[in-house]
Parts: sequence; structure tokens; C-alpha cells
Amino acid sequence: MEWGKTILSSLEWGKSISNREEKERVAKVISSMVNDGDIIGAGSGSTAYLALTKIAERVKNEQLHIRAIPTSQEIRMTCARLGIPVTSLWEHKPDWTFDGADEIDTEHNMIKGRGGAMFKEKLLISSSPRTYIIADPSKMVTKLGTRFPVPIEIFPEALTYVEEVLRAYNPKEIKLRMAEGKDGPVITENGNLILDAWFDNIPDNLERSIKSITGVIESGLFMHYNVQIIS
Ligand code: 5RP
Repeated sequence: MEWGKTILSSLEWGKSISNREEKERVAKVISSMVNDGDIIGAGSGSTAYLALTKIAERVKNEQLHIRAIPTSQEIRMTCARLGIPVTSLWEHKPDWTFDGADEIDTEHNMIKGRGGAMFKEKLLISSSPRTYIIADPSKMVTKLGTRFPVPIEIFPEALTYVEEVLRAYNPKEIKLRMAEGKDGPVITENGNLILDAWFDNIPDNLERSIKSITGVIESGLFMHYNVQIIS
């Protein structure tokens, strides 16, 4: 078997991406921002995946030397498949980061984490001097929590305790995220569980309040982050 001509190289991802045309459009904008030598934080999800494929075309055609810091194993594999070299936050500070989002309100607050990668995504966004959020128009909402719950990554044995404390913030519903087609919970790349919490109202301090609960690793609430939206 020739190394590189393996299952990884033959994988065809992204066949069932929703709103593909709109996502391709914003992905293209991101690829046009890449400069030779850039260290780029690469977000997760289908929009980020499309952006990486467009970046890879420029890297190949223009012989650019860039490195990506992936926010998930899936995106790390995508980089490997597309021939984009990767690095880490131990070695490099990103020049900029791009990522997708599930909901964005009028003040650019966001809910992220349908893919469960919000901890590393928040780490990359916090470490980057500039972040671009690429979002098709369906992601724009007048009020956060309209279509998606707030995902909360928790240490597994903290499940009962975190649920008890979370109830004080009056969620409409809290669910343990289950793996599709399986009788078990989703386990994150960090070995943790995800609680999806629905709130009628998401006040500014909810992100901090959730984060302060012992056992919470991170939430998918992004309130007042320094991001530019490309929609
Ligand atoms: C993953 C994320 C994604 O960026 C978010 O779910 C958007 O995904 P998509 O681009 O597939 O709509 O936060 O944790």
C-alpha cells in the first residue's frame, strides 16, 4: 500500500451539505484572505470544511506556505487529506482564525457547537487577533436560542451536579446529547459529555455563569467576542 493512497485520501466528504451555494460563497471570501506564511486557526463544521477546500486550491495553485491549527480531529484529517500542513497552539499563535456558527444575533453574539468542538473553537478564537465567522444567511437570528440550544461540554461525572446548578438559570429544557443511531451519549474529543440547554432568554452574563459551574469545561455561547461576520 502506498502511503497517502489510503482510505483517507479517497474519502469524499461534504456530499450532503445544506445551503451549499451560500456556504461556498462565504468560503470563497475566506480563501481570498489567505497570505503566504499565514498561521490560520481552522474552525469546524461544513462551512469551515468548504473554506479549507478552497484554501487548499490556492495553496496548490499559488504554492503558498501556510499552516493551519485545526479545532477538531475531523478538520485535522481534512487538512491531511487536502495537503495543508498543521501546527498547534504550543508552537504558534494564529495570525487569524475562521469558523462557522449555528446562530448569530444582531450584536454578533453566537451559539456554536453543533459539532461539539466549541472548547477548542473558543480557544482558537480567544488566541487570535482576528476572527472571521463565515455564515450563510440562515444563521442570522434576532434572538439567540431561537433555533438551537446552548451546548455545554461537561466532565462526565459532573453530570448530575451540573444539571442541578444549571436548573437555577431556568432553562426550558436540558438534554444529554446522544450519539446518532446509538444508545449512548456523544463523547467529545476531550472525553466529555455535552448537555444541550434551551433558554427563553440569554442574558449577557449567562456565558460566565455557566462557565463558573464546577465540571463545566466550556459552553458554545460566545458573548461579545471580537469577530467579523462574513455572511
Ligand atoms: C461546530 C461549530 C460549527 O461551526 C457550527 O455548527 C456551524 O456548522 P456548519 O458550518 O456545518 O453549519 O460550531 O462545533
